[in-house]
Amino acid sequence: MFKAGFFQFRPLFGKVAHNLEKVISTLRSADADLIVLPELAFTGYYFKDRDETFALAEDPQSSTTVAALVALCKEKNFYLVTGFAEKKADKVFNSALLLGPEGLIHTYRKLHLFNLEKNFFDPGDTPLGVQEVRGVKLGMMICFDWIFPEVTRSLAVQGAQLICHPSNLVLDYCQQTMLSRCLENAVFAITCNRFGADKRPHGELRFTGKSQIVAPRGKLLHRARAQQDAMFVAEIDIELANDKQMTPLNHQFDDRRPEYYDALCRE
Ligand code: ACM
Repeated sequence: MFKAGFFQFRPLFGKVAHNLEKVISTLRSADADLIVLPELAFTGYYFKDRDETFALAEDPQSSTTVAALVALCKEKNFYLVTGFAEKKADKVFNSALLLGPEGLIHTYRKLHLFNLEKNFFDPGDTPLGVQEVRGVKLGMMICFDWIFPEVTRSLAVQGAQLICHPSNLVLDYCQQTMLSRCLENAVFAITCNRFGADKRPHGELRFTGKSQIVAPRGKLLHRARAQQDAMFVAEIDIELANDKQMTPLNHQFDDRRPEYYDALCRE
């Protein structure tokens, strides 16, 4: 069994060291192969402008935050998927990092920026791909990517068995919709959402919590409460994600008719 879960918490805006300490002190007692953290877990979310985003973002190669998380992965012998404000030369991305005892394994940069994020971040430029951890094929997507079914589908047809989904959700639709994403692709998904609010001089944004783990066939394994810290790990039978046979005569992937779907790929 693969032990995977999430840590839902309330990052304080701009307090990177505080948020890092909160994550490290909580995860020290976790027994897991993989933990998913929220989107932008260390900086907070509601930036004033691009300059502020740039000032708080870090290059993972030289980041003290990433170094501390990798040290934690070594100590605990587990893997993390975390949201991260990523600086690269003159660009800044809303990213998800896959970290493990061996270091930074993969960076995914959010493809579909939500609302004012378009003012703070550059659009993602990394392909949707699959990474293998302890024999489990992981796909990564970030928050608003959920509303584009193409994202989960692209990951699933490449073999992803478990979708890691760091989030800072402000709308209420995603959690329920992820049950359908998991049903239609026969995959597991861990949505790790933050809670609380970013109260800034330019306004306030509230986040909806309710982090969750969903199994193939759209089965909700666990959903956290809306507004409290939640650390949860489930034993996942990853083999369930290999069964795409819906009925004796219906295979969810082999029955697709992509020759009729070309409208999907037009600009
Ligand atoms: C979102 O993509 N953070 C709503």
